[in-house]
Amino acid sequence: MSVTPEVIEQLAALREQIAYHNERYYVYDDPDIPDVEYDRLFRKLQALEQSHPELITPSSPTQRVGGAPLSAFRQVQHEVAMLSLSNTFSDEETADFDRRVRERLEQPTIEYTAEPKLDGLAISLLYINGELSRAATRGDGVTGEDVTLNVRTIKSIPLSLRGNEYPETLEVRGEVFMPKSGFEQLNQMQLAKGVKPFANPRNAAAGSLRQLDSRITSERPLSFYCYGVGMVKGGVLATSHGDILKQLQSWGIPLSPEVLVVEGLQGCLDYYQDILQRRDQLPYEIDGVVYKVNPIAQQKLLGFVARAPRWATAHKFPAQEEMTELLAIDVQVGRTGALTPVARLAPVQVAGVIVTNATLHNEEEIQRKDVRVGDQVIVRRAGDVIPEVVGVVPGHRRIDSQPFKMPERCPICDSDVLKEEGQVVLRCQGGLYCEAQRKEAIKHFASRRAMDVDGLGDKLVEQLVDQRLIKDAADLYQLTVEQLAGMDRMGEKSATNLVAALQMSKNTTLPRFLFALGIREVGETTANTLAQQLGSLEAIKDADLETLMGVPDVGPIVANSILHFFEQPHNCEVLDKLIAAGIHWPEIEVKEAAQLPLDGQTIVLTGTLSQMHRNEAKRRLQNLGAKVASSVSKKTSFVVAGADPGSKAEKAATLGVEIKDEQALIELLEQYPE
Ligand code: IVH
Repeated sequence: MSVTPEVIEQLAALREQIAYHNERYYVYDDPDIPDVEYDRLFRKLQALEQSHPELITPSSPTQRVGGAPLSAFRQVQHEVAMLSLSNTFSDEETADFDRRVRERLEQPTIEYTAEPKLDGLAISLLYINGELSRAATRGDGVTGEDVTLNVRTIKSIPLSLRGNEYPETLEVRGEVFMPKSGFEQLNQMQLAKGVKPFANPRNAAAGSLRQLDSRITSERPLSFYCYGVGMVKGGVLATSHGDILKQLQSWGIPLSPEVLVVEGLQGCLDYYQDILQRRDQLPYEIDGVVYKVNPIAQQKLLGFVARAPRWATAHKFPAQEEMTELLAIDVQVGRTGALTPVARLAPVQVAGVIVTNATLHNEEEIQRKDVRVGDQVIVRRAGDVIPEVVGVVPGHRRIDSQPFKMPERCPICDSDVLKEEGQVVLRCQGGLYCEAQRKEAIKHFASRRAMDVDGLGDKLVEQLVDQRLIKDAADLYQLTVEQLAGMDRMGEKSATNLVAALQMSKNTTLPRFLFALGIREVGETTANTLAQQLGSLEAIKDADLETLMGVPDVGPIVANSILHFFEQPHNCEVLDKLIAAGIHWPEIEVKEAAQLPLDGQTIVLTGTLSQMHRNEAKRRLQNLGAKVASSVSKKTSFVVAGADPGSKAEKAATLGVEIKDEQALIELLEQYPE
């Protein structure tokens, strides 16, 4: 095919569009076209390039796939050394840092940028005339390794810069990291392949970037945020660090949305507290925050000491991992009979909390980590997650230590334990005969998202079962104030309140009740769909496999689990007792799909809703027959825009799709109360 101006124009347009969608997807996590549409654009570009191979440029989006393996990395000399940061570990040390800066600059207060300290590895990206020409690791700060081929596979790093205002030579510096979700997935895959999983996202990022075969790197979920510049020639940058970062962002370089300009020490400390609070919700791991004097002129005055700048410091978070002794391994039995080995530990403070128990997950994990009683182990605690034993510290093992073995019978009820096909978890086969499972089933029944019985704590359920006052959930409704007042830490008043709360809980909804029954595989969403589709408890109880599988999202596993539950005479007895105790719910009118008020409508939710959670809005719209989609197209019926709606609302406006605000959504939903 001959090269015509149209072909050249078409190539440029496709590359520009794909680069735009890449940025939306990989940098902002907010695609505005469906994946299939992106794939279509991509394939179109590939086809066009195949007919004109002479027009393929190294910065074309098709050229990220990774090439033949290298035998070794080439060395790279950094013209401007890649330095490290000094650290502070407390507010006092941070105050000392700020005081030294103020004294040297003779200023009463300093403006800083405050940034997350990303836990990945430092990288230098060299752009010449806007094209990514070399990427190198930090190495010892002076000599690094050329990892260009690998870095080109990281989708959020632009191969060419946007616009034309960037310097001729621009060295961007930042951190390559692996988001938490990608890390979990990668480790699942490593385990499935029988390969050792990575200890943490940082090791995974480093291991992925230092692959001689860039095809492997291309399959790893790596990301990048910039935090500064190195060599700059043929152009001028802004006069403050914060503005330079914004310039980089305007040229298409990813920048963390958490970067902020703050005033003085207090601004720094407030930022630290804010990020520390949100640490677990951030999609990537950080080990602290970094403060940098914002005006570049002031940075120059301060200069460097040894290998670190005087104008910046890293304020580190408390460690999330500590070492302690493993005193014993106990085995717990959960609601579904799963046997979980639990580590009993010599008390140790991890990230501000004393930890004495940690999960060891399952037998395979214990074997893989070769954890034994008496070992020194590493315990990790991250936010709401249950503390876990990450591994063993070598060199402390007792000579008489024995590998751990799971019990052959249930430690609570002595029933058989079995491993289901293809699963790692051992399960007690005792069902509700097993006291441990009974306790957990009752706790689940009373929990907030199920029957929501206020004041019935886990410890109380355990006592009531241990003292044989209750055997199943239905017995809860026979408890008297006198019986309850006799329990530990209960008085007349709390017992009266609990009886009232139990009474109140009888007035419920069918989805909640179904969820409360604790049928395996039936979570809140499935309970809700079952109730809406089949309409009554009788219909669900009487449904055969085919009827159940006709319910959206119910597959053979869920359907069989429901059948199995209602086949157990014991479950039916408890159910009858519960209904006899007076549990009731409003009737549900089963509507045929075509009768549903929002049938055939496609709705997109964007921005933050203030009056209800987005999932709740989605569920209610779906119940009314609407399809809730993630991207806007001409077929979208309307878009609901909450606060800070972003690109989806813009797209709707361009396409002429109706945009409703949150109030309009609420009013719509109010027309159809549940
Ligand atoms: S600035 C001259 N900013 O921390 C200043 N570094 O301990 C050089 N890091 O090698 C670094 N997040 O890998 C800077 N927002 C951030 C950072 C950051 C993570 C890493 C980086 C560096 C190490 C220094």
